[in-house]
Amino acid sequence: MRVILLLFWSMTGLFANVHAADNPQKHTLPPGSQSNSPANPGVASNLLGLPAVPIPVDNPQSPAKIELGDKLFHDKRFSVDGTVSCSKCHDDKMAFTDNLPTSAGNRGQTGTRNAPTVLNAAYNKRQFWDGREPDLESQSKQPLINPVEHGLSNYEPILEIIRTDPYYQTAFQSVFGVAAKKVTIDHVAKAIASFERTLVSGDSAFDRYYFKRQADAMTEQQVRGFSLFVGEGRCISCHVIEQDQALFTDGQFHNIGIGINQIQQDVPRLAQAFQVAKSKGINVDVAVLSDKKSSELGRFAVTDELSQIGAFKTSTLRNIDLTAPYMHDGSLKTLKDVMNHYNNGGVTKKGDRVNDFLDGGIRPLNLSDAQVDDLVAFMKALTGSKNANPTSTQTAKEN
Ligand code: HEC
Ligand code: HEC
Repeated sequence: MRVILLLFWSMTGLFANVHAADNPQKHTLPPGSQSNSPANPGVASNLLGLPAVPIPVDNPQSPAKIELGDKLFHDKRFSVDGTVSCSKCHDDKMAFTDNLPTSAGNRGQTGTRNAPTVLNAAYNKRQFWDGREPDLESQSKQPLINPVEHGLSNYEPILEIIRTDPYYQTAFQSVFGVAAKKVTIDHVAKAIASFERTLVSGDSAFDRYYFKRQADAMTEQQVRGFSLFVGEGRCISCHVIEQDQALFTDGQFHNIGIGINQIQQDVPRLAQAFQVAKSKGINVDVAVLSDKKSSELGRFAVTDELSQIGAFKTSTLRNIDLTAPYMHDGSLKTLKDVMNHYNNGGVTKKGDRVNDFLDGGIRPLNLSDAQVDDLVAFMKALTGSKNANPTSTQTAKEN
């Protein structure tokens, strides 16, 4: 058994290496951020299976900033009807999602997309399903002024609350050395992003099995599922595992056949109409979250590249058991539904026509029901034992 396991580990190690060579971008951090350089060390996560959290040079972590960001993240007053904070859709108790197919913002309005977890978003090379924002700072400014989310028409109401709230007056002064009347939305964004960089989650059963080599950390079924994940299932080609850490994403965009079938016939017209609207200056963030068909254009809406129609960012699979329903449109209810979609070769209903833009990596897998169950069991081994990491805050304190 031991020999077989070792062989298995070295094989999967090889696989991860080969993949790393295929994809040199994998280690690249977003512009403006660095990790492990002496000038600006990333914050050690101390969690098994995770790399250091990249920290941008112009937004270092500090305990006071993290605490301020935590308050801002949970402040419902920053919305048109006083009911919406970031945590409405990224709820601490639901692994920082809302467990809804698509999120509900102010006055019960629903957007077009599923709320991804904010856990480990600090590692994302780009933010949002279509990657339209480069980092956590720029991302956090969008929902505040999106009509179907916080619903404000500009940042003024937020800055007004900050100017008059004694807690915020003191906190912004001590964190940024700025008087309340001089606070800008960029200060707000920086504090929120610093808080989000503490929301990391690792040390799952899989991490203990793979990185600590605790053979009994996963069940036999999960071990079989893992072997399918790196083998016949070919999941690892997009949901990447490296030798010393695993984020379960290549940070790239792929069309895996979700949602696109609903606009299939209409793609050329929609794509062209979207480009025209963009040239006239529409707000892409507003358009994709309020119009279902525009949403399905995926990464194309950001890059104008036809090959990226219906392509979305490869999700991390960490904590996936806690974040149902699945996919950018929340259309798949369970992990078994997800597996069936992949097993069918990128169509949710067996026999449906695959879309013209489907990623070459998606083909029918011909897995048996038992194998599908094994893969589902494996994904349940990816739940972190800690979902928020206080250690990051403590490490930041030492800096
Ligand atoms: C009404 C629900 C809602 C609210 C409120 C909301 N979000 Fe989100 N969030 C979403 C949805 C839906 C997405 C995915 C949108 C997309 O990709 O187009 C998202 C995406 C994100 C992402 C990107 C994650 C990834 O993996 O790409 C981050 C980070 C994030 N939100 C943080 C925040 C912060 C910070 C706030 C408050 C300033 C906030 N959200 C408010 C629903 C919400
Ligand atoms: C070609 C790349 C690719 C391959 C291969 C692949 N995935 Fe994915 N996966 C993605 C992308 C991209 C998404 C998001 C797609 C969307 O929402 O439209 C995704 C989403 C998911 C989700 C839902 C994530 C969420 O947060 O909603 C799960 C679960 C998943 N994949 C598991 C798997 C498993 C298991 C396999 C192997 C059987 C696999 N994937 C193979 C690219 C891939």
